Amino acid sequence: MKKKIIMLACACALTFIACQDKKESTSSALSSDEIGIRKTSVENENNVVLPDANFTTLQPGESNLIERSFENAPPLVPHSIENMLPITRENNMCLSCHDKAIAADVGATAMPMTHYFDFQAGKATGDEVSNERFNCTQCHVPQSNAKPLVGNTFKPEFKSEEAKKRSNLIDALNEGVK
Ligand code: HEC
Ligand code: HEC
Repeated sequence: MKKKIIMLACACALTFIACQDKKESTSSALSSDEIGIRKTSVENENNVVLPDANFTTLQPGESNLIERSFENAPPLVPHSIENMLPITRENNMCLSCHDKAIAADVGATAMPMTHYFDFQAGKATGDEVSNERFNCTQCHVPQSNAKPLVGNTFKPEFKSEEAKKRSNLIDALNEGVK
């Protein structure tokens, strides 16, 4: 009998706790439409409205460089990359202008030293771009003039005027290393 009463008491307590929990979660829970910045259900992809993205149509040689976001940030792509993607093992158009042996002749910025260095093996890759840097658009992205969904007040600090236009990551990485 005693055992039964204890069990009953436990069951009551559990039901009570469960009800409390439920009450709390329904009053403060967000619906899936309210989560994130797209404001549509996370369970349904059909109603997602993508922001208008007008990418530049200016071709390489016609565009103006975009200010670096911060020191040694991967520079943003100022020109159109239409018809250059996807980058495949056999075809990487970016290299045809940004390879260090070609860049100066076509007025493009040459890939920096970090792109000719295998960081896993710890050695330079000579005239060949490192495999780690082959997929350019993984890090370098074009910009569209879409209205930002979230504001941003970040202001970069640069150590020098030069650093606003050129990266020096390989030197920065070796700073203080003997
Ligand atoms: C036909 C030559 C050409 C091709 C192909 C090309 N680029 Fe460029 N790129 C340029 C030139 C020239 C500039 C300098 C801006 C200009 O004159 O339009 C530039 C600028 C850039 C910059 C800005 C560099 C800086 O110093 O701020 C980045 C990043 C870039 N390109 C990435 C790419 C990527 C990624 C691809 C491949 C998807 C690519 N480019 C393909 C010629 C080219
Ligand atoms: C894993 C990310 C990553 C990939 C992949 C990558 N880059 Fe970069 N890139 C960077 C970063 C970070 C910097 C700036 C720091 C530095 O020097 O490495 C940079 C700098 C550059 C610069 C500016 C050099 C300067 O002197 O200021 C050019 C041009 C460039 N990359 C072109 C390319 C091209 C073309 C490819 C593809 C073949 C490529 N990158 C692939 C991250 C990447």
